[in-house]
Amino acid sequence: ERRRASTADLAGRHVVVSAGGTREPIDPVRFIGNRSSGRQGVALAAAALARGARVTLVAANLADDLLAPLRRAGADVVEVSSTAELRSAVRGAATTADVVVMAAAVADFRPATAPGAKIKKVAGRAPAPIELVENPDVLAELATDRLRAGQVVVGFAAETGDDDGTVLEHGRAKARRKGADLLVVNAVGHALGFGTADNDVTIVDGAGETVAVAAGSKREVADAVWDAVSSISSTI
Ligand code: CTP
Ligand code: CA
Repeated sequence: ERRRASTADLAGRHVVVSAGGTREPIDPVRFIGNRSSGRQGVALAAAALARGARVTLVAANLADDLLAPLRRAGADVVEVSSTAELRSAVRGAATTADVVVMAAAVADFRPATAPGAKIKKVAGRAPAPIELVENPDVLAELATDRLRAGQVVVGFAAETGDDDGTVLEHGRAKARRKGADLLVVNAVGHALGFGTADNDVTIVDGAGETVAVAAGSKREVADAVWDAVSSISSTI
């Protein structure tokens, strides 16, 4: 069964969606970021609103023109920038959430220190290396902690195939590692994924088994994700 968007199957439910890409400060004017536009997360939030949910969107560096329509449609938008801010906003909202979807591209590493003043170049001197430390894995923590009983936790995995495996093989292994209930696996790179209108995904469960496949607009993929959430959840 696809596309239950016409029914209010998420009425009375609180869903939290993280979207966008985190920025890790190097100094007050520079950051380490990524190419996530946040469009898939925005589509997830819009679809959930259309299906009757109360929606909290934790928006990491999203363009204002993406956020304005969601605000008008009644979403509670929390703007964040770094992974630390995103983690705290997601966990705060998750205490009342039936579903948390981590669609944000979260930086795996951050600079170990972020000086309060701009780093200056010195003529003829090589720049100091930027030491990185690992960020907490927000999704894995949510899957372990289950901040509300019965909460459904959903992750996204943007993969490229490589010598170690295909996109789907990497996605299945990631699903088993993360402990989330669902992982939405999509291929990125070249013309796929980041910044594009269309998406092509495989939704797998925590054991890495395929639950659904979806291709089309980000809104169609979003509805397929909510369909999968509905079908695995006993509380929805
Ligand atoms: N994620 C997270 N916290 C992090 C890194 C990732 O919550 N520090 C979440 C993302 O929001 C996404 C999922 O984990 O829902 C998978 O992210 P991805 O980058 O594909 O997986 P990683 O475990 O970071 O593995 P790698 O980047 O090495 O492929
Ligand atoms: Ca990562």
